[in-house]
Amino acid sequence: MAIALLLAAGRGERLGADRPKAFVQLGGKPLVQWSVEALNALGDIEQIVVALPPDMPAPAGTIGAPGGSVRSESVKRALAAAGPGDPVLVHDAARPLLTAELVQATLDAVSREGVDAAIAASPVTDTIKQTDGEGVVTRTLDRSGLWAVQTPQVFRRASLERALDVPADVLAAATDDAWLVERSGGRVTIVPSERENLKVTSPLDLALAEMLLAGLVGQRLKHLTSF
Ligand code: CTP
Ligand code: MG
Repeated sequence: MAIALLLAAGRGERLGADRPKAFVQLGGKPLVQWSVEALNALGDIEQIVVALPPDMPAPAGTIGAPGGSVRSESVKRALAAAGPGDPVLVHDAARPLLTAELVQATLDAVSREGVDAAIAASPVTDTIKQTDGEGVVTRTLDRSGLWAVQTPQVFRRASLERALDVPADVLAAATDDAWLVERSGGRVTIVPSERENLKVTSPLDLALAEMLLAGLVGQRLKHLTSF
């Protein structure tokens, strides 16, 4: 059965709250609690291990593990604290709008033949340009093949363990775990996801998440279209 690693050990410096980001209140509960509930909604996740900042408690029904100094180190520590279980779902507590449907879709995708990892991502909507050191544009990328990567990311356990078995400087360079699987020769597939599965980084993101959770955005759109 599947297990989940929930990453909540970051400090949340860009959010700038009075506590670590995963424990900031959102819609009446700590940010991390929304993901715990989405992961539990399916009944397919046997165990949730939460990578925690110092002195913070594990959410009810989960197992706590001390986080590391960088994100992938937190993944490694949470995996070491986990019981048996395969595949392994990795999710950032900073994405509280996780849905059970997306959890299901990523679990389904990794169960396909020859797939080492299945990762949620949404198509890039902005035009992306590359520049030289002076800020002069050197290239405009073809947007059609570009994806903005999110979590959840689900891995076959052996692939993730192999990918994480690298020196500390490589772990520190990883902004997502799928990259570690790619560089160890693994096959990573995309599971299309909505942009609503946003990452809370700044106060603006927190306000947006609050509105989406309250259904305010939907209501307001309805109001606007009724004119
Ligand atoms: N994370 C973690 N361990 C770390 C760093 C980050 O578990 N050493 C987690 C965060 O808790 C978050 C996710 O990884 O859920 C994505 O990281 P990010 O959005 O950068 O969160 P923070 O590191 O908390 O924020 P900041 O970079 O602004 O300090
Ligand atoms: Mg960070």
